[in-house]
Parts: sequence; structure tokens; C-alpha cells
Amino acid sequence: MRLVDKVALITGGICGIGRAIAQLFAREGALVYTIDVSTAATNQNEPDDTQTPHAICNLRADVTNHESLMAALAGIHGRIDILVNNAGINTHPAALAETSVAEWNQVITGNLTSVYQVSHAVIPRMNVGGCILNIGSILGFRAAKSCSAYMSSKGGILALTKSMAIDCAPSLRVNCIAPGAVQTSMFAAYLSRCADPDAERQKILTGIPLARLGNPEDIAKAAVFLASDDADWITGTTLVIDGGDSI
Ligand SMILES: NC(=O)c1ccc[n+]([C@@H]2O[C@H](COP(=O)([O-])OP(=O)(O)OC[C@H]3O[C@@H](n4cnc5c(N)ncnc54)[C@H](O)[C@@H]3O)[C@@H](O)[C@H]2O)c1
Repeated sequence: MRLVDKVALITGGICGIGRAIAQLFAREGALVYTIDVSTAATNQNEPDDTQTPHAICNLRADVTNHESLMAALAGIHGRIDILVNNAGINTHPAALAETSVAEWNQVITGNLTSVYQVSHAVIPRMNVGGCILNIGSILGFRAAKSCSAYMSSKGGILALTKSMAIDCAPSLRVNCIAPGAVQTSMFAAYLSRCADPDAERQKILTGIPLARLGNPEDIAKAAVFLASDDADWITGTTLVIDGGDSI
């Protein structure tokens, strides 16, 4: 086990990529807290899982709301070793001309300002030698149609990761993971908005050299590596995990 007794906090940990990271961290020995706005976050430990030394505790909060976030953090006793800024949304896919100020602000707040807000609150509570992982996207450095706010928020995460890595060194390491297309509810929602979801899915698949879509576990395995001592001389970098899509 590579994260024995490390205390990890994962935002958006109830489903998708965050859920896979929470489960794999727990199997690697970490004491895992998640923060999620979903009502499935019950502010309690999950039932005992024989595969994990510690139960996962799911706290309910909105990472874009300061009071809500601080109330959830009060439920975590002691210091934190690993923070994963994973919570995100892709609710208003549109070109800039069709994006209202309110829609723009919702996506930037949900994906980028939330990373600032959670990190600002958690960094003073982190152990020296700890690390932060920000979940970006290949859409942070490559273009797609009708995606202006989401792309801007994810591009901001790549820059923020480098800024945080400099500012937090040598006490903390800060890295980013940039996933490609991963099969989660966010990806399913994207496909359902397309005129022909099957054709869009096939088009995305055709562009992936490794010939399959990603699973949340593909991202979780990389998150364990970057959070472990095996990555103790890695900071400020973005690890692209996309089956070769962005080559
Ligand atoms: N799925 C993909 O193809 C893909 C690709 C690249 C990047 N990403 C990124 O990975 C991250 C996870 O995405 P996913 O596909 O697992 O999405 P998802 O929608 O399946 O899960 C997101 C989770 O975040 C939570 N969440 C959203 N806003 C929140 C808030 N304000 N406060 C607290 N919790 C909140 C949701 O309740 C949900 O549990 C996101 O940052 C996303 O942008 C996903």
C-alpha cells in the first residue's frame, strides 16, 4: 500500500473520477474524506469495506460557497496530507457569443475559483511533505467547438497549478492531471446534448490511438502515483491521460 495513514481530501468524490480516486486512495491505506454537493454525501462514514483499512467519510458541501465549505472542513480533525481538487461542471457548452455572463461566471466559479477557494482554506492545514492534485482537462490546452467557458476554466487550472507549485515549494508539491474523454456522468451528459450521440462517441473514439474511452480508474491510478512518495521530486507538472488523443 502506497498511501498508508495519509489523510486525503477529495472534492467531487461522490461519483465519476473523484469517486474512483477516493476508492483507490482508501485501498492504498489513506484515510479519505470527500466533499460533494450531492445529497448522496451524508456527512457519515461509508459502511465498512473489507478491502480498505479506513472507511471513506463523505461530507456534504458546495465548494463554491465559503460558509458551506468551512462547515464541512470543520468535520475534518487533524492535518491533511493530500488535497485533490476534482469537483467540476460543464453545464453551459457554447461558443463565446452564445454564453451569458451568468453562465460564464458559473463555469469559471465551479471549475477554477473553487480550486482557489478550497486550496486557500486547506493549505494552512496541510502537513509539510503533502501534495495537491488539480484535475484539469486536455481542453485546457487544446481547442474544441462550443466550449469557451469550460476551456478557459481548465486552461486556468494549468496556470494555477504552476503558480501554486512555486508558491508552495518546498513544503508541498502541486501537480495537475489532464484527462481526455472519461466515461462518467459528465461525459454522458455531453453526449446526450449532441444531435447524434452515437456518432459523436464514435468520432471521439476514432481520435484515440489506444482505441478506447477512459475509465475513472485510469485517472485514479495516476493520482495514486502523483500523491505517493514515488513522485517526491515532481511538482508543477501536468500529466496528460487521454489514450493519446491529444498527441
Ligand atoms: N469525464 C471526462 O471526460 C472529463 C475529462 C476531462 C476532465 N474532467 C474533469 O474531471 C473532474 C471530474 O469529472 P467527472 O467526469 O467525474 O464528473 P461527474 O459529473 O461525474 O462528477 C463530478 C462530481 O463533482 C461534484 N460537484 C460538482 N460541483 C460541485 C460543487 N460546487 N461542490 C461540490 N461538489 C461538486 C458532483 O456532485 C459530482 O459528484 C471535473 O473537474 C471534470 O472537469 C472530466
